[in-house]
Parts: sequence; C-alpha cells; structure tokens
Amino acid sequence: MIKPTVLITGAGNGIGKATALALYAKGYKLALIDRDVASLSKLNAIGAIAVCSVTDSSALTLAIQSLETQVGPIDILVACAGVGSLTIVPDLNIPDLRQMIEVNLIGVANAIEAILPGMIERKRGHIVGIASVAGFRGLPWMISYSASKAALIAYLEGLRPGLKRRGITVTTVCPGFVRTAITQDTPFRTPVKMLTPDQAALYLVRAIERRPRDYVFPFSTRVGMTVLKIVPNRLFDWMMDRAGPRALTSEF
Ligand SMILES: NC(=O)c1ccc[n+]([C@@H]2O[C@H](COP(=O)([O-])OP(=O)(O)OC[C@H]3O[C@@H](n4cnc5c(N)ncnc54)[C@H](OP(=O)(O)O)[C@@H]3O)[C@@H](O)[C@H]2O)c1
Repeated sequence: MIKPTVLITGAGNGIGKATALALYAKGYKLALIDRDVASLSKLNAIGAIAVCSVTDSSALTLAIQSLETQVGPIDILVACAGVGSLTIVPDLNIPDLRQMIEVNLIGVANAIEAILPGMIERKRGHIVGIASVAGFRGLPWMISYSASKAALIAYLEGLRPGLKRRGITVTTVCPGFVRTAITQDTPFRTPVKMLTPDQAALYLVRAIERRPRDYVFPFSTRVGMTVLKIVPNRLFDWMMDRAGPRALTSEF
C-alpha cells in the first residue's frame, strides 16, 4: 500500500527530526520544514526540504506549495515546530512570551491555514498538533510555555468539529519530558525522567497511524498529568506552592 505524504514542521532537530527518520524508515514520503538551515540540510536525503519560519505565513505558504510540487499533496501535517523556556516570577520576560505565542500557537495556525485548502478539496487529511502536558494547567516555572500550549490545545479542540465534517481529523499530541534542546537547561533539583527523541518518535508514529483525538505519552505522565488536570483548583494551588521550591534549583 502507498504510504501517505507527511509534512513536518520543526523537522530539523529533536522530536521532529526523530519522527521524520522513523516515518522515512516506514516508507512515508516526507516534506520537511525548519528555520535551522544547517540541521535541515542534513535531512535532504530522506525528503523534500524547505527552510522557513512558521511565523512568516506568506513564506510558509510558498514553501508548502513548493514542497507539494516535489512530493505531491500533503496528507498529514505534523505541526512540531516549537520553542520553550522557563518563566519564573518576578521575571515575566514578555519578549519570550510573545515568541512562544508566535511560534507555538500562531505558527501552528499558519501551517494549518496553508495546508487546509488542499485537504478540504480532497475531503481528507490529518492534522497532528504537538502541544504539551504543560498546557494542562498553568505550571509556575513555565508560565508562558504553559499558556502557549494551553492555547494550542484549545485551538485544536475548536477546529476539530468543523474539520471533521470536511473529512479532516485533528489529533492533539501532548508529550511528557523529552531530552532535546528545549529541556537541556531545565534547573530541576532531582533528575527528571526524560524520553529520548527516538522514543518520543515511536509514540508520535503511533498517533499518526491511529489518529486518536488526543495522545498523551508516556503512560506515567499521562496518569500523573491527568490527575493534576482534574484536582480541585485550591488543591492544585497548594501543590504548586510546595512543588516549586522543591523542584527547582533556581529561586522560586
Ligand atoms: N522536549 C520536550 O520535553 C517537549 C515536551 C512536550 C512538547 N514538546 C514540543 O515538541 C515540539 C518539538 O520540540 P523539541 O523538544 O523537539 O525541540 P527542539 O529540539 O528545539 O526542536 C524544535 C525544532 O523546531 C524549530 N523551530 C523553532 N521555531 C521555529 C520556527 N519559528 N519556524 C520553524 N522552525 C522552528 C527549531 O529550530 P531552532 O533550533 O532554530 O530553534 C528546532 O529545529 C515543540 O512544539 C515542543 O514544544 C517538547
């Protein structure tokens, strides 16, 4: 059977790169986008590549059109490009917040907007948005990142019904911690269990192939963060008040 064509944004490094390699090994045709020229160039043997920022909607649309002339219509979008950093009171770092909203929310919307007309015309497609368990609640050491991912989760949820009736599935993927550039300087007091990008990619391939509504991994994080999501607000505040100073080496 011919495998679908997958467009991955943020394919140059980390989870996006590992997912591209895993999909290539399974015979998928790939279109890859990243702003990191050096990293993306190394992947030109496994797919068509285009260097572009997801924050530039016009350039992104042109890049996707050019990729489609090389690999054909995009069946699956994996919107993986993302940025993350810590935000700890009292340094609210508004430029960082703005960048996280620009990339993690509007960048995903830009990619969806660019592939949508083709998917709607063909009456099929799959949009896989990479959010995070950090978007389940406002985490006090990644305030801005949590807000950007919570917004993305809500955005994808809102898109789902209107796209479903046009034959397009939306999957929201929420990974736990993965050892990539985003997590490398996290000042946790005790070592936090992190997946490798290759392990995360295996989960992501499963989400691409099974098309669930939501996909949270690994299992331990799914259980822990699902509990955190439903605990009463006052209990959540109490837990975070204690977790912050215990979890971080930096001042809380
Ligand atoms: N690592 C985790 O623990 C974790 C957990 C949950 C969710 N996630 C999410 O998973 C996704 C992948 O993250 P990762 O951990 O694999 O990080 P990563 O290793 O830094 O990879 C992200 C890739 O996206 C690229 N990118 C960033 N902004 C871009 C833009 N405006 N346009 C195009 N490409 C851009 C980055 O390029 P540069 O190198 O130039 O920035 C990088 O190549 C992100 O959405 C992240 O929020 C990660």
